[in-house]
Amino acid sequence: MNHLKLSDEIFPVGALDPLLRIFDIIMPTEFGTSYNSYLIRDEKITVIDGVKAPFADVWLDNICRHVDPKSISYLILNHMEPDHTSAIPRFLEAAPQCQVVLSKVAAQYYQNLFHTSNNLIPVGDGDTLNIGKRTLKFHFLPFLHWPDSMFTWSEVDRTLFTCDVYGCHFCDERAFEGDVSDFAGAFQFYYEVIFRTWKDYVLKANVKARELNPAVIAPSHGPILNVNPMKYVQLYEQWSQPLCRPDDPQKKVLVLYESSYGNTRRLAEALAEGAQGAGAKVSLRKASDLDFMALRDEVESAHGILLGSPTFMGDAVEPIWKALSAFCTIPAKGKKAAVFGSYGWSGEGAKMLQERLRGLKLEVLDETFRVRFTPRPEELDGAKQFAAKFVGWLKGEPVV
Ligand code: FEO
Repeated sequence: MNHLKLSDEIFPVGALDPLLRIFDIIMPTEFGTSYNSYLIRDEKITVIDGVKAPFADVWLDNICRHVDPKSISYLILNHMEPDHTSAIPRFLEAAPQCQVVLSKVAAQYYQNLFHTSNNLIPVGDGDTLNIGKRTLKFHFLPFLHWPDSMFTWSEVDRTLFTCDVYGCHFCDERAFEGDVSDFAGAFQFYYEVIFRTWKDYVLKANVKARELNPAVIAPSHGPILNVNPMKYVQLYEQWSQPLCRPDDPQKKVLVLYESSYGNTRRLAEALAEGAQGAGAKVSLRKASDLDFMALRDEVESAHGILLGSPTFMGDAVEPIWKALSAFCTIPAKGKKAAVFGSYGWSGEGAKMLQERLRGLKLEVLDETFRVRFTPRPEELDGAKQFAAKFVGWLKGEPVV
């Protein structure tokens, strides 16, 4: 890394983490990752983004190959997640005169993370910072991927520092897009897990990236995009198109269920038949048959979700809870849902699922469709009517 440079005055000084196999508790990282940080050797020496605490010494060693840390004037933080910031206390011990430039939201997070507000310079959208021959400009673009995030733009270098956006968990010491091995899969997987839920915000970031038209995109994970950076903006554009449009005249209903002895399955089939009869396009899926990606496509592309579980031991069953854990990784908020299931004794599972769906900010029908053990013919007819009412609700009809 020490021989690498973006220009005669900008140097990668971050750290490689080739052995990382899980990021943020849940995200597999089979290619490891990098915590990219950039040093700009201008009149006011500036560092953009930081690294994770265990890599503080690597970061400082890399910086020391170019400058004395005591001479650093500014540390710009585009985003406060600890993979980019937890080494900051160690950095500031070595660079005590350094001021920290960050968004106003990030300044609040900084105070909660480090219990100090010393030497902070909060900046807003469009604010600038002159560091010599460069005037850096900040573009506040929240939810990329926290509410604090911003881009830093260097017009002189036509380089856009984007932190997580257009990055990926990929570790290759050659660092540059044109030199590293194939990272296309890692790039898409990173988008899927980190950014798919924030599609609207990604599209706003893309507008800004297109307006700036950078020659180089310098993210904080993975390769530096210096060959065809706009190709990656285009990919984000493609992946961020909505799978479900609220104004579609035909509504899609996902009937997602789990069943042990076939009773909840019979309800699911009757609900699917009822929804189809009411004009909806229907997908009937057993949760444990779907992998993570397929499940997310099904949920995201549906206008409404009928979610079914039997009640076992006073709870809904594990495949349904597992399916619900994927909802926060896609744009599911605001979708309409209702709950159904078979039970034998007291049937708590359905109510629990209602609460969870509401916690995930879906709009949930108060009424559930529950049946004791085996559904009777009239109960299956009732399920069809319930599904027709649900489709009416999706179309904007009042629920009675
Ligand atoms: Fe790489 Fe959202 O932190």
